[in-house]
Amino acid sequence: MSSSVNPTRSVGFFRDESGRLSCDGADLSALAEEYGTPLYLYSEAALIAAWTNFHTTIAEAVRHASHEAAEALVCYSLKANPHLALVSLLRSLGAGADLVSGGELTRALAAGVPPEKIVFAGVAKSQAELRQGVAAGILQFNVESESELADLNAIAEGAKHKVAVALRYTPDVGGGGTDKITTGRAGDKFGLSRETILQLVSQDLQHDFPHLDFAGLSVHIGSQVFDTASFRSAWQKLLRLFQEAHAAGCTTLRRADLGGGLGISYGTTPAPSLNDYAAEVASFTKDFTPLALPAVADAETPLVLFEPGRRIVAAAGGLLTRVLRVKDEAGRRFVLLDAAMNDLIRPALYGTEHRLEAVAPPVSHQKHTGKPTADLAGISVAGPICETSDVFLPERAPEQASAWSQLQEGELAVFLDTGAYGATMASAYNSRPPAAEVLVRADARHKCITPRRTVDSLMESETIPSDLL
Ligand SMILES: Cc1ncc(COP(=O)(O)O)c(C=O)c1O
Repeated sequence: MSSSVNPTRSVGFFRDESGRLSCDGADLSALAEEYGTPLYLYSEAALIAAWTNFHTTIAEAVRHASHEAAEALVCYSLKANPHLALVSLLRSLGAGADLVSGGELTRALAAGVPPEKIVFAGVAKSQAELRQGVAAGILQFNVESESELADLNAIAEGAKHKVAVALRYTPDVGGGGTDKITTGRAGDKFGLSRETILQLVSQDLQHDFPHLDFAGLSVHIGSQVFDTASFRSAWQKLLRLFQEAHAAGCTTLRRADLGGGLGISYGTTPAPSLNDYAAEVASFTKDFTPLALPAVADAETPLVLFEPGRRIVAAAGGLLTRVLRVKDEAGRRFVLLDAAMNDLIRPALYGTEHRLEAVAPPVSHQKHTGKPTADLAGISVAGPICETSDVFLPERAPEQASAWSQLQEGELAVFLDTGAYGATMASAYNSRPPAAEVLVRADARHKCITPRRTVDSLMESETIPSDLL
């Protein structure tokens, strides 16, 4: 089996000297034995490395481009993976939090993220969510509709301070990895157009929204963005809007939230470089700082915010799975796993693919005694759920499916780069309890951070009306 795991990688999932796939030196067969499969594994070291790399690079870009006049605040986007253990770890490294629901706010606070490092995005926040954010004293709400602004102003009346808002701008720039995760085009449900924002900020804000502090503008064009030119184009439009808003009399804007979205490599195309992204950040910051400086109060500096999710947590995670069946039918091979779309729905939902790596060393496959593949029309990898869409890797000709064509029944394999938008999107479809989760710490120590649920526990919250008993 050819391996696409980088043998020189020193953190996360890599092959040890014997060729076996490991997570930071932890034996994956032993973990499968102890916790069962399917099992999400997270490398603490890989998470720390990804955060440190992103944070250091971006904070330096902002500092340098602004001549120390502006600061970066990196708010980890909980939607990518909201597990308390991971958020706590990132918080301990200085991360803020970007949220899209009251549930995520509860989690961020439970993980100890300081409210003054929390931004609350989300296209349709409920009254209860707005109240929750105001009560917690978060840094800012990224507001996405005029009625949200009015509701927030009413809720903010009882607050000790004005509640800070950033208006989310829709720059009409695409860029997400798939249509379904692109958010910045005109016609997408997110944000406000330039016209709406200019009309809003041209009002007598003190009079119309006396309890709100119009602190900034925000933009988020989508997820898994590969072309840094898309960021440039969106951020240039954002800069123009800052200028226009200022000219329209709104002189309090001093924060720019540039959103998340920086893509990662899922194995085929190399990821956009962090340095290229940082260069775009620097170019934006250079022009933004002089616009923001007149708006800052004594104790503040202009702030450039970031909301990365996938780039921080994706590569730290892997989904360990066991092959249940290998079936050759109608000239095709189906490698059927114990992981399913209820554990990892991205392939079924978006048509995306994750690299699948056998745990066993590649050499053992050269002498395997499996059935020949030469006569097969195609090979695919699927889960056990009763849906045709429960397919992880769609059919390939045998010569193109070398990485998984030789997997045998009972063998272990890992879907790589599943730390983001994996476990958090899991369900109990087909009454399958979702995968358990384990954090692999330094020195290959490991800790179960989400035990496997039982079917009994899934049924616990269900009630049978007494006449049906
Ligand atoms: C508002 C907002 N911020 C940040 C993110 C995080 O995006 P990513 O995980 O691609 O960095 C998302 C996800 O799409 C989002 O909707």
